[in-house]
Amino acid sequence: MATADTLVQTAELEIRGLHASVEGKEILKGIDLTVRQGETHALMGPNGSGKSTLANVLMGRPGYQVTSGEVVFKGEAILGLTPDQRAQRGLFLAMQYPVEVPGVSVVNFLRTAYKAIKGEEISALAFRKHMKEKMDLLGVEDDMVRRYVNQGFSGGEKKKNEILQLAVLAPQIAILDETDSGLDIDSLKAVATGVEKLIGPSLGVLVITHYQRILNYVHPDFVHVMMGGRIVKEGGPELARELEEKGYEGIRQEVGLSEEEAGRDDAGSGPARGES
Ligand SMILES: Nc1ncnc2c1ncn2[C@@H]1O[C@H](COP(=O)(O)OP(=O)(O)OP(=O)(O)O)[C@@H](O)[C@H]1O
Ligand SMILES: [Mg+2]
Repeated sequence: MATADTLVQTAELEIRGLHASVEGKEILKGIDLTVRQGETHALMGPNGSGKSTLANVLMGRPGYQVTSGEVVFKGEAILGLTPDQRAQRGLFLAMQYPVEVPGVSVVNFLRTAYKAIKGEEISALAFRKHMKEKMDLLGVEDDMVRRYVNQGFSGGEKKKNEILQLAVLAPQIAILDETDSGLDIDSLKAVATGVEKLIGPSLGVLVITHYQRILNYVHPDFVHVMMGGRIVKEGGPELARELEEKGYEGIRQEVGLSEEEAGRDDAGSGPARGES
């Protein structure tokens, strides 16, 4: 459907000099990053470096103030758009902590989302067929899509469900936050190979993670390391391996960032933040 389009132009998500704050505290301190359709990018960084904040700002979740910079998707400035409008234009965000939707089955949820995003009617039968194709590709059981969205889903099932959502909605650019968190080795492998199957010329992906292991399956073309709200180092796939060896501390010293600049200010001031 979008193929004619994609052949002519490549969708591009461009983040320029992005600064953003939460409750008056600056978290993102100037992010520049471009993701094109067909490219796989990994955004890595220690806890609290601002990765999820970036994902949330990109998708327009409330509670974040963009203080300067801009985000342009397919030539259009999107920071003034609602999350729905961004999704309609072909952006997708898989959240680190997916929400439950009691009373709505996965299949109905997906069909509603599909209609809202594509702006077109699709019969239950046609949708089933479309979904079944994706389920087969990803190895998702029938049983799962009849259940209520995320209710009682294990961590692995939630993530699988997200990847199914990604496959069914077929966005041009997807942001996957912490898709490896809370997964056992087999689930991680299943989810990661699912993502790998979806990667192709019509999909651009930004995979957000702090570990290298998901990158054994999802092979990034570009790796960006974030620390203290800035991208401090960029490279190819070898950078992920380097990171695994040196650790974030090694990278911090190499790029000459103070502990404070790297966001490790919990050392001296007040209680450590107890997230994750
Ligand atoms: N809603 C919020 N209220 C207060 N502080 C926030 C909020 N959201 C984010 N922060 C702070 O912003 C910083 C960056 O958080 P963020 O969730 O973006 O990090 P992250 O890189 O995704 O970390 P992780 O690897 O643990 O997921 C943290 O210091 C966090 O406490
Ligand atoms: Mg996060």
